[in-house]
Amino acid sequence: MLRRSVGECRVPVEAAAVFVLSHVKAWHAPPQLGLLVATSLARQAHAALSFSASSMDFADAEFSKSSVVRQVWRSQNPGKISDLRLVTEELHPPPHGEIRVVIKAIGLNFADVATCLGLYSAAPKGVYTPGLEFAGIVDAVGEGVDALSVGDRVLGLTRFGAYSSHINIPSKYVRSFPENWSFSEAASFPVQGLTMVYALRELGNVQRGQTVLVHSAAGGCGTFALGICKSLKVHVVATVGSDDKVKHLLEYWGEDFLPPERIIVRGVGAPFKQQLEASLASLRVEGFDCILDAVLGDYFLPAYDKLSRGGRYIVYGASSMMPHGNRPNWLTLAWKYFRRPILDPLKMMGENKNIMAFNLIWMFDKIEKMEQLFQELESYKLPPPFIGHRYPFMQALDALRKFQSGTTKGKVVLEL
Ligand SMILES: NC(=O)c1ccc[n+]([C@@H]2O[C@H](COP(=O)([O-])OP(=O)(O)OC[C@H]3O[C@@H](n4cnc5c(N)ncnc54)[C@H](OP(=O)(O)O)[C@@H]3O)[C@@H](O)[C@H]2O)c1
Repeated sequence: MLRRSVGECRVPVEAAAVFVLSHVKAWHAPPQLGLLVATSLARQAHAALSFSASSMDFADAEFSKSSVVRQVWRSQNPGKISDLRLVTEELHPPPHGEIRVVIKAIGLNFADVATCLGLYSAAPKGVYTPGLEFAGIVDAVGEGVDALSVGDRVLGLTRFGAYSSHINIPSKYVRSFPENWSFSEAASFPVQGLTMVYALRELGNVQRGQTVLVHSAAGGCGTFALGICKSLKVHVVATVGSDDKVKHLLEYWGEDFLPPERIIVRGVGAPFKQQLEASLASLRVEGFDCILDAVLGDYFLPAYDKLSRGGRYIVYGASSMMPHGNRPNWLTLAWKYFRRPILDPLKMMGENKNIMAFNLIWMFDKIEKMEQLFQELESYKLPPPFIGHRYPFMQALDALRKFQSGTTKGKVVLEL
């Protein structure tokens, strides 16, 4: 049995806080006053406790059967990023079939921003906690779970709720990760990795020697897409939104795989259609076999025009519609919505072009399919995910705003 130390003193502080809070509640004090008193008393209680969490043992049966106090980012209603609040609450022991994970890192996704702004159709209505992926250490195992033990390092997928210090989750949604990966790297792996393997292989059926257009190539999904394409020996034309991302791409991938003439800064220097034509000419091909598009907007139709006959155009996001404020400007959004590209299926048939669209979140519960995608993704033996931006857990709002700005490279993570 693995014996590891927790390495921090949060448990006794929070246990004290819950004890005090429950008593403050009994006095019928206003909640803010209650919290203040509780925090202050908890600090004193903690100082008085000679108990050291570093001596705690994950193998302690009593510990794994008990509740913990967790911190979790929560909002009562999607609509504004600033409505997210850090809440302290009790988390019950994991029920049958579930494990509890002490979360060490959380991977951010564009969907988190869209969820907070109330623009994500797959998000829960009403009270929610953002977050689709995490990595951490198993610290309690519910009945009926045989394959995992306390102390195991796991990464996991969840339909929301990852912005938390601890999570209870069915064991089928977690898996191990390479020993030389950090928690942050592991938390950066599942969503964007699976999204790209699904897009490129399951839908795109991309083969060696083909040509693929990858939008937002310096971002989280983009980095996975390029990794998979490199592994498959597929030619890539990459687009980004700014010059500084070109420098990053050249340094990260090297010019052998991604020469400068195949990196497009969208909308700079020439109309997008001409930029695409120049890149295709450098490859001596007429069109793309596959296009990965999560930007849409003005870039859709020129790219569709350059799709080869029999080619596959995969739509999996609409980042050009992302508002940059604390809440959506509905007029701007409505304008973008009404200007969205619309295709005629009859014309598509005549052109022999395919369009596919998906949202991976609707497949989280298709365990066999997800397992197959995980195995394929792992088979590429990609380097650990590239992390461009790290934020402490307490600064989740700053991390979301940075992500929303569209200036990030690689993955954005929260660390605990
Ligand atoms: N369908 C699915 O299952 C699924 C799963 C994961 C992600 N996605 C989608 O895939 C896309 C990439 O996701 P990611 O998590 O890897 O994010 P990311 O690419 O790391 O970051 C988003 C990127 O979108 C681009 N962008 C274009 N217009 C923008 C705007 N108006 N505001 C902000 N950013 C803008 C920016 O890159 P450039 O300017 O350099 O292009 C930005 O860096 C997103 O659209 C996301 O919704 C879909």
